Amino acid sequence: MTVWKTVSTSVEMTEKLGEAIGKVAAPFDVITLDGDLGAGKTAFTRGLARGMGLSSRVTSPTFTIVNEYNDQQGVPRLFHFDTYRLSCVDDFYDAGLDEYFDREGVCAIEWSSVIAEALPEERIALSISGNDNTREISISFPDRLNEAFSKVKETMEKEGMRFEDPGM
Ligand SMILES: Nc1ncnc2c1ncn2[C@@H]1O[C@H](COP(=O)(O)OP(=O)(O)OP(=O)(O)O)[C@@H](O)[C@H]1O
Ligand SMILES: [Mg+2]
Repeated sequence: MTVWKTVSTSVEMTEKLGEAIGKVAAPFDVITLDGDLGAGKTAFTRGLARGMGLSSRVTSPTFTIVNEYNDQQGVPRLFHFDTYRLSCVDDFYDAGLDEYFDREGVCAIEWSSVIAEALPEERIALSISGNDNTREISISFPDRLNEAFSKVKETMEKEGMRFEDPGM
């Protein structure tokens, strides 16, 4: 597993990071998004959908828990969760929401810590913190995605983002 630290200086940059990850995302990838209210989890997901070639507008699934986004052929490709309103992981299991992990799409999960024990071990994890327009973002990903993430890094460095690998 690799952990990167980076900084986003605008909502657009956070969206672009989502877009770059969306371009390399594959079915069954699980992307967890943690950070306070207004951290930019939904902004990231908006970019993610764009990078995956999905044209629908992404809105917060807070009240519905999960929103599905289909491609132009009507095939579901992105499952966007916001588990903020679940009180515990049992609510997640009771609603059968863990079945989404077996579906052929990308899962993006806001407030994933609420359902920590239900999450697959292998995932892409973002944690976002900060205020004003600055967000410190930590990104971890499994080794099998090294090549994909080197593309993400290349794309984002062109946008002026800098990456630090605390392991180096
Ligand atoms: N660098 C940045 N990255 C992301 N958002 C930023 C940044 N700077 C400012 N913002 C603002 O922060 C807000 C992020 O809102 P967003 O809905 O994406 O947060 P969220 O983490 O999904 O919150 P919630 O927990 O309520 O769902 C937006 O109003 C956005 O304009
Ligand atoms: Mg949100």
